[in-house]
Amino acid sequence: MPSTQPIGIFDSGYGGLTVLKEIAAKLPQYDFIYLGDNARAPYGSRSFETVYRYTLECVQWFFKMNCPLVILACNTASAKALRSIQQRDLPQIAPEKRVLGVIRPTTEIIGTFSMTNKIGILATSGTVQSNSYPIEIEKFFPETEVFQQACPMWVPLIENNEHHSDGADYFVKEYLDLLFQQSKDIDTILLACTHYPLLKNKIMQFAPGKKIVSQGEIVADSLVDYLKRHPEIEKKCSKNSEMVFYTTDSTQDFDNHASIFYGQKVNSKHLEL
Ligand code: DGL
Repeated sequence: MPSTQPIGIFDSGYGGLTVLKEIAAKLPQYDFIYLGDNARAPYGSRSFETVYRYTLECVQWFFKMNCPLVILACNTASAKALRSIQQRDLPQIAPEKRVLGVIRPTTEIIGTFSMTNKIGILATSGTVQSNSYPIEIEKFFPETEVFQQACPMWVPLIENNEHHSDGADYFVKEYLDLLFQQSKDIDTILLACTHYPLLKNKIMQFAPGKKIVSQGEIVADSLVDYLKRHPEIEKKCSKNSEMVFYTTDSTQDFDNHASIFYGQKVNSKHLEL
């Protein structure tokens, strides 16, 4: 068992690095372990049962790595696995540990960005099917109308480093058109997949004048606040500014791709699950 108690950050692949980047900027003193389950990504089109099983397996690994707190920096895992893990598994396997997601902190604040009270959610098919965003936004902003559009081609484009290509233009425009067909009064678009910030410039190009919101900063601010409100968890988190990266697939591929998401060079280790 490692001597440090890092905060675990999880994603199906690279997307969570866009969240980790913002978290590390706001909480540089803490230790972090990132795990990308690249060998089994994408999660976006998988069933509830499969996303739950994969996510739980990864969460259990974080616990073995001594993490007192794990953030699911993946909307699909947050939508399909978080509640079962929090309510069913944690009380049995690790009642003293915490697992948090990215949907709740985002839905608590997203309504404040819109003037028309019409928000567009762009996400994986899994997140859209779960209906988590409309359900949660309704709790905090009942007057806000939520329109969802699944963008199943975006994660593969990004994972294959094709997000600057003309092919990406085609698919960005296609899904935005489908979103605006639902309501042209949408003034705020939430990138509800942690991969999508890499497409932000293209999305802005095809949705001029709209507010495009990514989650990294929102989740980071919410974690800062959480640690203040939960000193019993905060004091367990070790603080040596250590950052360790793991992938369930090839470390070479991970290191080559990760810097696009994280903005810095990364040296990952392999995890066989
Ligand atoms: N980054 C994940 C999310 O936020 C999706 C990637 C995937 O489909 O695995 O939903």
